[in-house]
Amino acid sequence: MEKYEKLEKVGEGTYGKVYKAREKASGNVVALKKTRLEMDEEGVPPTALREVSLLQLLSQSIYIVRLLSVEHVDKVPKAQKASANPLTKPILYLVFEYLDTDLKKFIDSHRKGPNPRPLPPQLVQSFLFQLCKGVAHCHSHGVLHRDLKPQNLLLDQQKGILKIADLGLGRAFTVPLKSYTHEIVTLWYRAPEVLLGSTHYSTGVDIWSVGCIFAEMVKRQALFPGDSEFQQLIHIFKMLGTPTEEQWPGVTSLRDWHVYPRWEPQSLARNVPTLGPDGVDLLSKMLKYNPSERISAKAALDHPYFDSLDKSQF
Ligand SMILES: Nc1ncnc2c1ncn2[C@@H]1O[C@H](COP(=O)(O)OP(=O)(O)O)[C@@H](O)[C@H]1O
Ligand SMILES: [Mg+2]
Repeated sequence: MEKYEKLEKVGEGTYGKVYKAREKASGNVVALKKTRLEMDEEGVPPTALREVSLLQLLSQSIYIVRLLSVEHVDKVPKAQKASANPLTKPILYLVFEYLDTDLKKFIDSHRKGPNPRPLPPQLVQSFLFQLCKGVAHCHSHGVLHRDLKPQNLLLDQQKGILKIADLGLGRAFTVPLKSYTHEIVTLWYRAPEVLLGSTHYSTGVDIWSVGCIFAEMVKRQALFPGDSEFQQLIHIFKMLGTPTEEQWPGVTSLRDWHVYPRWEPQSLARNVPTLGPDGVDLLSKMLKYNPSERISAKAALDHPYFDSLDKSQF
């Protein structure tokens, strides 16, 4: 790690800190992410290595944050240094291209501070298009992200570029309910089938999250800000109506299904009042209860909502 000069902490996520750093040889600014891998004497678990190669492959896309290198460090605990057979603690550092902000910080800067203002509609359209491109890329390689949220979408503000980060790590490094700082992992973008305990979920879980992020860019506040798994479902049911067997066959047989009050669906348009009819239509297709009816990322790219977007720039 002597190759890098740490500059400042830029983020604190589920597994550890992320630093802005400079690669001494090239002068390039990068992001260093230390992963908290539970490793034994055998070294890095093969599942993690497979995951990292997948990350390397996916990050070829311009819609995915680029993984530049993987640094494997054998940290020798101080007390062990003199020992003949030191118990080294292997650590993996992932080195990514650096982007100046994430979508959460960006939305926050439009909601509070000296200059609160809506995100320009064309920017929302462009960010959503890039997000769908990235998600379609992952899904076409059989990879689910499973934790799409504004904090995991990095932005190059100058160029208006959005890239997906924090990808696929879920499988190599299991997703905990709380972060290493005991921060509660957000449930706001979690699909109802996941909240209801379905274990056979698919690409629809990411599309649900994309829908929540779309609405949040327009509203500048979360669509379903639940603070427990139960409250999260209640938020969803109160807006979209309590799901029925007719709408979503099998829903009442899911592991964590209970009998809930029967809420009637509200108008989605009234919940995102500044979004036009095409946007509301696309959003409603992303937030379908039945995961198999949810629009795919690829199909979303052809939705009329994007008709007015200059796609040649992508
Ligand atoms: N390549 C990067 N460039 C700039 N900031 C980054 C980069 N990667 C991550 N960050 C910042 O660090 C935060 C946590 O990073 P993330 O990869 O999401 O880790 P975690 O798995 O811990 O959530 C992000 O929300 C973002 O603010
Ligand atoms: Mg993250």
